[in-house]
Amino acid sequence: MIELVEIQTKHRETLAKLLNDESMSRWLLTVPYPYGLQDADSFISVCTEGKDSTDNRRYAIEADGEHVGGIGIHRREQHSGEVGYWVGKQYSNKGIATAALKQILDIGFGEMGLIRIYAITFAGNDASERVLVKCGFEYEGLMRKARVKDGVPVDCKIFAVVK
Ligand SMILES: CC(C)(COP(=O)(O)OP(=O)(O)OC[C@H]1O[C@@H](n2cnc3c(N)ncnc32)[C@H](O)[C@@H]1OP(=O)(O)O)[C@@H](O)C(=O)NCCC(=O)NCCS
Repeated sequence: MIELVEIQTKHRETLAKLLNDESMSRWLLTVPYPYGLQDADSFISVCTEGKDSTDNRRYAIEADGEHVGGIGIHRREQHSGEVGYWVGKQYSNKGIATAALKQILDIGFGEMGLIRIYAITFAGNDASERVLVKCGFEYEGLMRKARVKDGVPVDCKIFAVVK
């Protein structure tokens, strides 16, 4: 069973273990490499010390009670929000990201009252594109040098689903 659960201190070691993987963090805007316990602690603080709000929701993804990844949704405008997600490499291609994204769409379109939810991928992230398409997102276009990762501008793609 795939569940989205509140991020807690108990997730710090698995966060540090799963995210300390350059083949994963290279696709994630805000995740540094190497990624250690201090990074996990800072992230958990943001989630637990009131900075997470009704407009910023971040969850641990648990599969049958085991911490396997993370997902978040952030209101960017009154009506629209952006999602981001990751799943640890050893758990990939089991449908976990797809199941978690479907749950966060329900939260975004439900409790948060959004009518548009989008994701911005770095160009070349074929697995993530596949997850988005499986969840009903449509490709809207290429955004050249739209984000900067480790000081390097990268081309991005935007995908969205609307209610
Ligand atoms: C992208 C990511 C979240 C996918 O997680 P996951 O749990 O493996 O995803 P799912 O199992 O639900 O679906 C993966 C799909 O991608 C496909 N896939 C995997 N690698 C692929 C590749 N190199 N090219 C094309 N498709 C690929 C799988 O076959 C599967 O599709 P299918 O069900 O049609 O077979 C995970 O690989 C990850 O965390 N990557 C690094 C972080 C990241 O990219 N986050 C998203 C930022 S926008």
